[in-house]
Amino acid sequence: MCGIVGYVGKREAAPILIDGLYELEYRGYDSVGIAVSNGKELKIIKKTGRVKEIEAARSERGNIGIGHTRWATHGDVTVENAHPHTYKNIALVHNGIVENARALKEELVSNGEIFYSDTDSEVIAHLIADGYRGDLLDAVIGACGKLIGSYALAVYCSDEPDALICARMRSPLIVGNAKDGLVVASDLSAVAEEGATLYSLDDGEFARLEGDEVTVCNAGKNAVVKEAMQFDLEEGKTKLDGYRHFMRKEIDEIPEILHHSMFNFEKNSCYSDFYRVLCQTEYIQIVACGTAYHSGLCAKVAIEKLCRVRVEVVVASEYRYSNPIVPKGTLLIAISQSGETADTLAAVRLAKRKGAYVAAVVNVKYSSLTRLADAVLYTHAGKEVAVAATKSFNAQLAVLYSIVGTLAAIEKKRAPTLRGLAQKTAKTISVSEEVRGWTPYFVGAKSAYFIGRGADMCAALEGSLKLKEISYLPSEGYAAGELKHGTLALIEPGTPVVAIITRRNTAEKTMNAVHEAYSRGARIFLVTSFAEYCEMDEVCASVLIPRCLPEFSPILSVVPLQMLAYYVALARGNDPDKPRNLAKSVTVE
Ligand code: M6R
Repeated sequence: MCGIVGYVGKREAAPILIDGLYELEYRGYDSVGIAVSNGKELKIIKKTGRVKEIEAARSERGNIGIGHTRWATHGDVTVENAHPHTYKNIALVHNGIVENARALKEELVSNGEIFYSDTDSEVIAHLIADGYRGDLLDAVIGACGKLIGSYALAVYCSDEPDALICARMRSPLIVGNAKDGLVVASDLSAVAEEGATLYSLDDGEFARLEGDEVTVCNAGKNAVVKEAMQFDLEEGKTKLDGYRHFMRKEIDEIPEILHHSMFNFEKNSCYSDFYRVLCQTEYIQIVACGTAYHSGLCAKVAIEKLCRVRVEVVVASEYRYSNPIVPKGTLLIAISQSGETADTLAAVRLAKRKGAYVAAVVNVKYSSLTRLADAVLYTHAGKEVAVAATKSFNAQLAVLYSIVGTLAAIEKKRAPTLRGLAQKTAKTISVSEEVRGWTPYFVGAKSAYFIGRGADMCAALEGSLKLKEISYLPSEGYAAGELKHGTLALIEPGTPVVAIITRRNTAEKTMNAVHEAYSRGARIFLVTSFAEYCEMDEVCASVLIPRCLPEFSPILSVVPLQMLAYYVALARGNDPDKPRNLAKSVTVE
């Protein structure tokens, strides 16, 4: 959610900033801007739209600068609201949300100060400029002391034209030395390069980038010694490699990722501690948002069925305000691709205060969630660029199903096997290309429905979310048995209904719902592991996927649904990688 990049050093800053912003564009893409200084003059270039809109600014001369790609929270998508924001001698870029911005702004306006944007970020520029007494670090620390909310900041001051000051509170920020200079960014990929030494700031820390040195301190200006991040350059690379879109590429990566996620499960450094907790736990809570929430639902089905341990799955944004009951011995599993989702982090903090042991199923190393959790179980999905989560969902399932296998063994139940899932997923990807033929039935539809029971229902929810977020087609995922309790009223001739059927003993029950929808004119599409259903007259088209343990089937059945969303989005002329109004990691409440 918004991207920050900054550079100070011997090279020209503008190309570094613009290249970094391309890497960050997946975090926000409604407007973009850079500020570049040559020591005498600060040039600010801002545009609405994507990074390519400021390509011409590559030629701006200057060795220090800051850049930003925005996902609007306060104020419309306009040039005025784009970052960097300036006031007097200050220019800054900001990620996060200042919750008390309105009150602060009212006070500043009553003092006669004029604002040019509707953003909360401009308020920070005013606070810093007003507090500046010849030391930018002091001014930034002073201003941050007045802020409530979250921020990652990179600040330039024309009175100290050789330095950048950075600050972090609940919004990720990385600083360090790269080639011929110092860098700051909200995401490793924007600044990682051969030989770079990078540090992830913690909440409440400030950094000064000047000369050839990065110094980090806390609000009391006490120096903080940071540990350099270990990163794999290859992992951070975001190349299309001949694909038209990252989403399609990321689907193709799933089989290999599953292999890594499962293979490395017991190699997580905290595994033995996690195992000890798992041995004692009688109750599991899962918190997550969006797609990660759906993987939590899949885990609940599998854990309760195969391990007979009680699981509750709660949307993180609800958990935090529900005064949740956290019995002694609760294991809380927080699932997040980015590890930066504000609602999930808040839920985790609350659960920890209430005594839960927190295990994070997370993709991004050094993310905030990894620092909060007692145990970290990595998903090894690599960088996911497409805003619509695909491979990270399957990777989360691989880790969660590995937990199921371990827990089943602890509970002396028959341990389910994960063997063969990666190969079966590869097969599923190849048969899923058939959904291309389904798109004409979805492109002009008013709405679409996804139904299933048990694990199939969880896949239905995820299939529906995927379709709506990138094709903008209203859709619902449902328990098949619920259709007749209201939603059936929405079925009209031609309405597409996708049924997921992978469990033998409920297959006929789901087919009942299919018959009910078909009799009202619905066009039926099937994702199933049973060939006989594909032949039925009611079925317009189907994808026959390999069989696996029904409790684990979403890892396969979701693939054709991801592909369906992708092809429908394309057919409707949308960019599947960057859906409107969305951003990759939602770091605001
Ligand atoms: O980074 P997280 O997994 O915590 O993100 C949670 C959701 O914001 C995310 O899954 C979102 O729903 C995706 N856009 C879904 O494709």
